[in-house]
Amino acid sequence: MDMTQRPRRLRYGASLRKMVRETRMDKSALIYPAFVMEGENQREEIPSMEGQYRYTVDQLMYKIEELLNAGVDKVMLFGIPDHKDEWGSGAYDENGIVQKGFRAIKERFPEMYCIGDVCMCEYTSHGHCGILNGQEVDNDRTLDYLARTALSQVEAGADMVAPSDMMDGRVAAIRKLLDANGHQNTPIMSYAVKYASAFYGPFREAAGSAPSFGDRKSYQMDYHNRREGVKEALLDIEEGADILMVKPAMAFGDVIRELKETTHVPIAAYNVSGEYAMVKAAAGQGFVDETAILCEIAVSAFRAGADIYLTYFAEELARCMDKGYIG
Ligand code: PBG
Repeated sequence: MDMTQRPRRLRYGASLRKMVRETRMDKSALIYPAFVMEGENQREEIPSMEGQYRYTVDQLMYKIEELLNAGVDKVMLFGIPDHKDEWGSGAYDENGIVQKGFRAIKERFPEMYCIGDVCMCEYTSHGHCGILNGQEVDNDRTLDYLARTALSQVEAGADMVAPSDMMDGRVAAIRKLLDANGHQNTPIMSYAVKYASAFYGPFREAAGSAPSFGDRKSYQMDYHNRREGVKEALLDIEEGADILMVKPAMAFGDVIRELKETTHVPIAAYNVSGEYAMVKAAAGQGFVDETAILCEIAVSAFRAGADIYLTYFAEELARCMDKGYIG
């Protein structure tokens, strides 16, 4: 056979394959999302997210230690308050659950990088991501609450804040209040391109944050749209976002790639609760190989252009990197 080009030449042997790999990543890119609740000495498994728990602050410390031992040194906290009200006051309370979580982590494990998810939906009685005016989320009124939430998280020890509410202008409002309080070096990772998605179902069960009426389609994006994602991304950069996130990850690789090419900031991808639940369910039935599939899904996000990956599988991925399955 007269054939000069033989792509298979570079596929013989693990060592050669690894040398010519196009996508490389390491544990420093991983962020683990954790749920923290009021109480003591408890951890509750989340029914739709096998292997994931809601932790009381003391129990969370064991999880943090485990993450650090696995080489995962970044965590994002979601709070599950005891009381919810119309104004989501637990979100910006200096003794709110997330604030207590950050203080405890920073006291025991200062090397753990802490990120605050900034949103109202876990704290409002109606489950929407902002303050209501009748049946509508009042965008402009909500901004002040979000900024106060971000500031209280930073004052409790968060190293970075990540607004996930999708209100217009929230990055600017947060940046302004953080700066006015001397936190000009605290980065903002904006959930810039967040779609209204059924993939968040298990999270809403975990956090009890499903909206009590209506849906989030007037603030989260329509998943038919990619160019609108660029618009959101560019606006957030103008407002002061340091890192942009695309969410969900698995079904939105094209959006990750688009942002990578149209912006110059680091891009994060969030492998959300529904993606986790689907892998767990299929693997639990023996239909797919869990480890193999979570590696493949993670690499797909990095290949699409993600620099940072938020995932409930962070610890498992770190182990897969140690074993050389991926990386
Ligand atoms: C808060 C928020 C949500 C998620 C992250 N931040 C839920 C939502 O928007 O309804 C979802 C994360 C996941 O599904 O893992 N707004």
